[in-house]
Amino acid sequence: MTASFDLPHIAFYGRVADEALAMFDLDWAALAGKRVLDCPTGPSSLVAEAHARGVDMVGCDPIYAEGVDALRARGLADIEVVVARVEAHREKWDWAHYGDLEALRRKRAAALERFLADLAAGLPTGRYVTAALPHLPFPDGHFDLVLNGHLLFSYSARFSDTFLLDSLRELVRVSAGEVRVYPIQPFHLPAYVRDPRFGQLQAALEAEGVHWQVRKVPFQAQKGTDEMLVLRGP
Ligand SMILES: C[S@@+](CC[C@H](N)C(=O)[O-])C[C@H]1O[C@@H](n2cnc3c(N)ncnc32)[C@H](O)[C@@H]1O
Repeated sequence: MTASFDLPHIAFYGRVADEALAMFDLDWAALAGKRVLDCPTGPSSLVAEAHARGVDMVGCDPIYAEGVDALRARGLADIEVVVARVEAHREKWDWAHYGDLEALRRKRAAALERFLADLAAGLPTGRYVTAALPHLPFPDGHFDLVLNGHLLFSYSARFSDTFLLDSLRELVRVSAGEVRVYPIQPFHLPAYVRDPRFGQLQAALEAEGVHWQVRKVPFQAQKGTDEMLVLRGP
């Protein structure tokens, strides 16, 4: 058994739009005319890139109130934390997409800067919202599509059964359509297998009438993470 990839804390670390769209098996055309929530968006540039294309997307994260300078410092520090971890586990990564470690670092820094450049304009208009699962400040069915990347299952070792269930329920509550969750393989497990609480979460949500489905996606950074969970409310 090889050591786990797990990180020391939930990283303020974000993807650029081409990765974020691929991990949710989306493209810009699929988002046209939709109201989308990306929760958490962290320092991902997805919301900024969506806005530039006229796509109505809101991003949320608990720490946006820290301000641009603190978020830049945190984001840059977390890029180094994650890149060092990736370097120690190179063999677990599919390098087809990134090429090498330096290209990965550059992509993360570009996402962070694009996000920061959009934040000051986007916070007052509600494009970015300071919010934390499992309670989101949006009405029922407010969005047509809700995305959840690299939080619930990636970092599930930190989360109680109740937090995971309540968070999935909350994402379903604010969506009038699908909720897409990526990945479904936790960082703390040595092999990238589905979260062991998957079955019990599925049973609990299906009992409430939520439709639960796992779909393949055309993306994997860590080998074996080419699946997302798709939920739809009753
Ligand atoms: C690794 S980033 C994911 C960013 C983006 N979705 C992506 O895939 O690139 C994880 C984010 O989750 C945020 N976070 C931590 N606790 C949270 C909570 N209870 N609710 C929502 N977001 C949370 C962190 O601040 C961090 O920015």
